[in-house]
Amino acid sequence: MSDSLADRIHAELARVEDPELRRPLTDLGMIDSIETDPVRVSLLLTITGCPAATRIEADTRAAIERAIGDESYDLTVGVMNREQRDALVAKVRGSRPKTTPFGRDSLTRVIAVTSGKGGVGKSTVTVNLAAAMAAEGLAVGIVDADVHGFSVPGLLGMPAGTQPTQVGELMLPPVAHGVSAISIGMFLQSPDEIVAWRGPMLHRTLEQFLTDVHFGDLDVLLLDLPPGTGDVAISLGQLLPGSEAIVVTTPQPAAAEVAWRSGAVARKTGQQVVGVIETLSPSLASDGSSFALFGEGGGVAVARRLDVPLLAQVPISPSLREAGDAGVPLVLSHPDDPAAVALRDAARALAHRPRGLAGRSLGVSPV
Ligand SMILES: Nc1ncnc2c1ncn2[C@@H]1O[C@H](COP(=O)(O)OP(=O)(O)OP(=O)(O)O)[C@@H](O)[C@H]1O
Ligand SMILES: [Mg+2]
Repeated sequence: MSDSLADRIHAELARVEDPELRRPLTDLGMIDSIETDPVRVSLLLTITGCPAATRIEADTRAAIERAIGDESYDLTVGVMNREQRDALVAKVRGSRPKTTPFGRDSLTRVIAVTSGKGGVGKSTVTVNLAAAMAAEGLAVGIVDADVHGFSVPGLLGMPAGTQPTQVGELMLPPVAHGVSAISIGMFLQSPDEIVAWRGPMLHRTLEQFLTDVHFGDLDVLLLDLPPGTGDVAISLGQLLPGSEAIVVTTPQPAAAEVAWRSGAVARKTGQQVVGVIETLSPSLASDGSSFALFGEGGGVAVARRLDVPLLAQVPISPSLREAGDAGVPLVLSHPDDPAAVALRDAARALAHRPRGLAGRSLGVSPV
């Protein structure tokens, strides 16, 4: 009888995941013991002040209550000792060699968001695609590779100074709105530090991000690229030869030209361009008239020139900017806003796009 109660509690706890490690607590050695007479569970956190502690404790309590109903119980929350933490790190890291887990054979889709031109909405698009995919149940991460902008933590509402959690040698990215995100900005001692960064330093940092940061098993990793077709894009091509790219453009011809070039560079460095997203697109007024502040046609032109689908036209939306400032992606805060609808549709199209040869140039011309 009591054995089966312990089994039931264990089974429920096995459904609780550590939000940063994305693995069940029972697999990670975080459930130290389960007693049944009376019911007493001992939970071990990885480190003191673990940022996910409140959520883990609440999820653990909910799991115990699912198993035992109204019965009273005692939950003790402790912290792992060095040995226990080392065991967890070894388990999570496995025998994986110290290279990026997102190489050619990885099951994670790596999608770089690029544009060439600055300020066109790359980071806004990245964060909303990520939040929309996470809301659909995918495990999603973002690498903010923009040293000069590093806007992703703010767009996700992470408080200034948010740092990755260090567990032994594992660096765990903070999670917000179901998205794990790591930013170069989290590693800078002062904002002035970036001034000295040149190509090799960027390359090393990017490589370190992709190797040392433990995202767990991701379905999709989005990379928010800085503007330009420079060092970071080329490094990415070398570090992640199997990755995909989305090109973001505004409707303006000048932006479209630069966006096309960033797509062409991505292709040259071995990335597969999977589509174009136009943002700051004409918006419809309530009387049915259209307001095209940035002109029109850029997205269609870039998609045609790169011979890839136009995944979305995201209309100009004051709520999109406000959502960014508030740190809650628009797809979550205002899911019915036309911009949110366009971004969610693009996220779905991307998420359901099978990996493989589809859309890849096979070098065969049509007869
Ligand atoms: N469709 C839209 N409607 C209204 N505002 C938008 C839209 N898309 C982007 N913006 C706003 O434009 C500004 C620039 O967006 P964002 O920071 O995402 O661009 P970026 O391409 O990442 O810029 P950078 O090159 O500096 O990294 C932000 O204030 C954002 O809120
Ligand atoms: Mg940006």
